[in-house]
Amino acid sequence: MKILILMFTILFFVAGECALRAEENKFKPNYEEAKAGNLPWPSPLMRPDGSRIATATEWNNRRRAEIRKLFADLLYGELPPHPETIRCELRREISNALDGTAIRREIRIHLIHGDKSHFMDVLWYLPKRKTEPVPAVIGLNFLGNHTCTDESDVFQTDPWWGARNFRRGAHTYRWQIRKLINNGFSVATATRGDLFPDRADGRAKSVFRLFHPPEALTPEHREYTAISAWAYGYSLLVDLLRTDPRIDSARIWAHGHSRLGKTVLWAMANDSRIAGGISNNSGCCGAAPSRRNFGETLGRIIQVFPWWFTSRADAFIGKEANLPFEQYWLLALAAPRPLLIASASEDLWADPRGEFLSTKQAGEVYELFGSSGIRDQKSMPKINHPVFGDSLGYYLRAGKHDVTEQDWNFVLAFIRHCTRSR
Ligand code: GCU
Repeated sequence: MKILILMFTILFFVAGECALRAEENKFKPNYEEAKAGNLPWPSPLMRPDGSRIATATEWNNRRRAEIRKLFADLLYGELPPHPETIRCELRREISNALDGTAIRREIRIHLIHGDKSHFMDVLWYLPKRKTEPVPAVIGLNFLGNHTCTDESDVFQTDPWWGARNFRRGAHTYRWQIRKLINNGFSVATATRGDLFPDRADGRAKSVFRLFHPPEALTPEHREYTAISAWAYGYSLLVDLLRTDPRIDSARIWAHGHSRLGKTVLWAMANDSRIAGGISNNSGCCGAAPSRRNFGETLGRIIQVFPWWFTSRADAFIGKEANLPFEQYWLLALAAPRPLLIASASEDLWADPRGEFLSTKQAGEVYELFGSSGIRDQKSMPKINHPVFGDSLGYYLRAGKHDVTEQDWNFVLAFIRHCTRSR
């Protein structure tokens, strides 16, 4: 009897181990180019009935909306609607911020719907010297507004609703606000957690709670996603900046890193007022094609971050070839607006080559608008050698998954380039 129990225990253990290894192998990232798969490159211009979009007008009138809807239905969900009332509260204005070079505003945007209210806190800098309307960079941040600046008296915002407080100024290097101000840009940022705390149970405290009862906001209700809530945050920033005549509303650029790099692409697809975008190290479900098996995969990202995506995406895990779109179709939804895709050489998880190939492929749609992409760039660009078409750009920065001063140098060069080529 004892032997039988022992045998059963061993069998049970071995079976458990095998299941675990099989599970691990399923999500083990591939980093060998030879095993990345030989992709089909479906064209966003081909409609399901076999007809082909041939002009920018056809794209704008028919195809663009069809593709946006596919991404909403199958991957990111829809953005929340606008609430009944939006009210801006100026909590503080400093007229000699950043050693007298900027005006600093801290604004709470109140969203009011029925008897519920929600808010997003904005940190907003405007350059002082300029007399004509200035361009702006907007973006959500990861760790709180007080982490984006070296000014030590900025109101603290909390990315996860009480979970952790991050060190003041910790991400100053990622934002380079002084550099942007010195280059004549206004900068506005808010924290992702104000829209959707980045956790499985974050939905209950997200902006979606304005519109749905608590029982519809459990981790299972994946139609209301973090990426869509964050994308809505970008639109709120645009709303706010457009209220000030000192901002050139035709030159509002959206920036986002990593999960927020994915978000920027989705925000641009939904808000045509965003004049240009920079999607930094966005990787899987951002600029990297899902059909390529390199670095992070659809299966792994959904398993770890299910609240970012709708549950309808689950059907494509391991069956990426069945997706009725590819990620460069999302890039193409930004056309003809300028779009810069940025990779980092050591960020293999995000699949730099895939991000480059996507940028190339999106060129097919930009060309409809008479704007050159980077389709004649045959090989992977060298490290720190940006490749800019008229309105599409790509670069591979040396180093890790991050946003650095070097990234901003490339971004500013791209913006100057696009301004010139218009
Ligand atoms: C994880 C995730 C990525 C994401 C990144 C980030 O690494 O797997 O998809 O881009 O976090 O947002 O920093």
